[in-house]
Amino acid sequence: MDRPVILTGLRANNDLHIGNYFGALLPIVDMANRRAGAYEVHLFVPDLHSFTTPIDHSLLQAQIMHNLKLFVAAGLPLDNPNVHIYRQSYIPAHSELAIILNSFTGMGQLGRMTQYKDKSGKLGDDIVSVGLFDYPVLMAADILLYGTQYVPVGDDQTQHLEFARDIAERMNSKFATELFIVPEPVAKQREFFGGATGQPKGLRIKDLIDPTKKMSKSDESGRGIIFLGDTPEAAVKKIMGATTDSLGAVNLDPDNQPGIANLLQIVALLSNQSLDTVAEMHQGQTEYGTFKKQVAEAVQAFLVDFQARLAAVDEVKLLEKLLASETKMNDVANETLLRVQAAVGLR
Ligand code: TYM
Repeated sequence: MDRPVILTGLRANNDLHIGNYFGALLPIVDMANRRAGAYEVHLFVPDLHSFTTPIDHSLLQAQIMHNLKLFVAAGLPLDNPNVHIYRQSYIPAHSELAIILNSFTGMGQLGRMTQYKDKSGKLGDDIVSVGLFDYPVLMAADILLYGTQYVPVGDDQTQHLEFARDIAERMNSKFATELFIVPEPVAKQREFFGGATGQPKGLRIKDLIDPTKKMSKSDESGRGIIFLGDTPEAAVKKIMGATTDSLGAVNLDPDNQPGIANLLQIVALLSNQSLDTVAEMHQGQTEYGTFKKQVAEAVQAFLVDFQARLAAVDEVKLLEKLLASETKMNDVANETLLRVQAAVGLR
């Protein structure tokens, strides 16, 4: 493929939330709508990544299909021939490349990954899987198979992106060949997507109850998370119950007022304005209840609109596109895999 590739994946371990939506889904959908003539745009479900932490497997199939529908509801243009939508496990080259890359990856490097340390810290030793440890290698395979240059992801995935660059460079130098296209440096990527979300840095929406940690779909209680499938009423309740502080005036001060800063960020994203503009509008507001009500109204309007678009998704068309993309992407991925197999002496 000659056009540069923009690619991202969203796991199907649960319903998506507004962090996933604004951190990864909207930036790539925006690119697909504005730039698909100049780029190949890949949006896929990393289904093999779904159970790196424990899930209810009887729900996975339905969740995968649901998440694919969310992509379309978010505005992914299925008619565009440069847009590709697929499930990771339907393209076996992902797993095969990951197995090869494993042998060129140090245990130490994977053990230092922040996400691995965070997630494994919460699980018992018997539940921490090799899959969780190896997560970044499979993710690197996802990226490198298609010669990807740009990967819109939230801030929490920066280290994994750096790892993909790192292993691509190492393999290229070891085998003295242009084996992989190295994804752009992360700072350059942020610039590239900056226009889409107004985020020069990677985005990190915080949990509403504990605004010192990120909103995460693996979180059990769900009270601090706005899921795309939440009823507007439930979402309003969650916003009204969001943790704030005792300072009593709205300011953009993430260190001292993380809850307020998070709510300002959510309003900025929902209204497609810069964070500074929104902060200025609410600066000094002393009634947190009134402020939260304004945030809740914006969230409610967004969910009503999004869910109407979700209900209108043409499932037949989605399935046709999915199967066509999977056939095509198997060819593209197998070409890269063969090149790697030849380089390491397997072919
Ligand atoms: P997942 O499903 O955990 O997250 C999907 C995307 O949502 C972003 N994200 C957030 N962004 C802002 N604020 C938050 N609170 C927040 N929480 C999550 C994540 O950064 C991510 O971009 N490892 C990927 C899945 C993946 C992938 C890939 C991505 C597998 N292979 C290849 C890109 C390329 C992940 O975190 O999924």
